[in-house]
Amino acid sequence: MWAIELEKVSKSFGAHRVLIDLDLQVRPSEKVTLIGPSGSGKTTVLRLAMTLEKPTAGNIRVFGKSILFDAAGKPLSSSEEARMRRRCGMVFQQFNLFPHLTVLQNLVLAPRTVLRQSRDQAEKSALEYLRMVGLETKVHAYPAQLSGGQQQRIAIARALILKPEILLLDEITSALDPELTREVLGVVQDVARETKVTVLIVTHEMRFAREVSDRIVVFHAGRIIEQGSPDKIFSNPESARTRSFLKCVLNH
Ligand SMILES: Nc1ncnc2c1ncn2[C@@H]1O[C@H](COP(=O)(O)OP(=O)(O)OP(=O)(O)O)[C@@H](O)[C@H]1O
Ligand SMILES: [Mg+2]
Repeated sequence: MWAIELEKVSKSFGAHRVLIDLDLQVRPSEKVTLIGPSGSGKTTVLRLAMTLEKPTAGNIRVFGKSILFDAAGKPLSSSEEARMRRRCGMVFQQFNLFPHLTVLQNLVLAPRTVLRQSRDQAEKSALEYLRMVGLETKVHAYPAQLSGGQQQRIAIARALILKPEILLLDEITSALDPELTREVLGVVQDVARETKVTVLIVTHEMRFAREVSDRIVVFHAGRIIEQGSPDKIFSNPESARTRSFLKCVLNH
């Protein structure tokens, strides 16, 4: 069974077709990175998976279950949709930590309110994920006392604490300088090693893509033009469009 499967997914905003008949399958625990020019539809794929957008056509399944329709083909109710949304966790470029809450308070908020965990239970799992991202010493710090890279690692822990089956990472290093980018990359690799979570990544950092991914999927104008192992895509791309995209980003 696929961890996540997009079947003939199209998405339009008005007359603008952003995704066109897209098919994409991701295996459980696979790390897949979406690359391609700005506006090619990468973020839209993650937003669809997170049910922040609805496709114009097609279906999306998470571990075999549609996140759009019930068994009778009717759209999911909002509570069923909320349940499906919890199977995915998303981290954005901007970390969006609550500035007036400590690291621990930021982490326990969702487990307490969404999962209705006891304080003890939520704090115990907060410490576990803080350890995974290497920041257990920052448990009582406020976001403003942390570097951008540390804040992003907290944001990753905050997504993981809800135990998503799919982790969606959208440009999580693009607000960071190279050293902090490396630090966050290391955390994503640790998470990949220590959990079974399936990860869909969007990034313009080709080194990050190359190091962390099992597979690279290249987008162009709402379609997948090529996919394969990082070695194949970066060393031996088939498509002229992939070559010109890589030339463009690697020269930056
Ligand atoms: N809510 C929206 N309303 C109208 N158009 C949208 C909306 N969201 C996205 N688009 C358009 O859809 C297209 C694809 O956007 P998307 O954000 O998926 O691109 P992307 O590949 O993530 O680009 P980038 O690399 O710049 O982040 C763009 O042309 C964008 O302007
Ligand atoms: Mg984007």
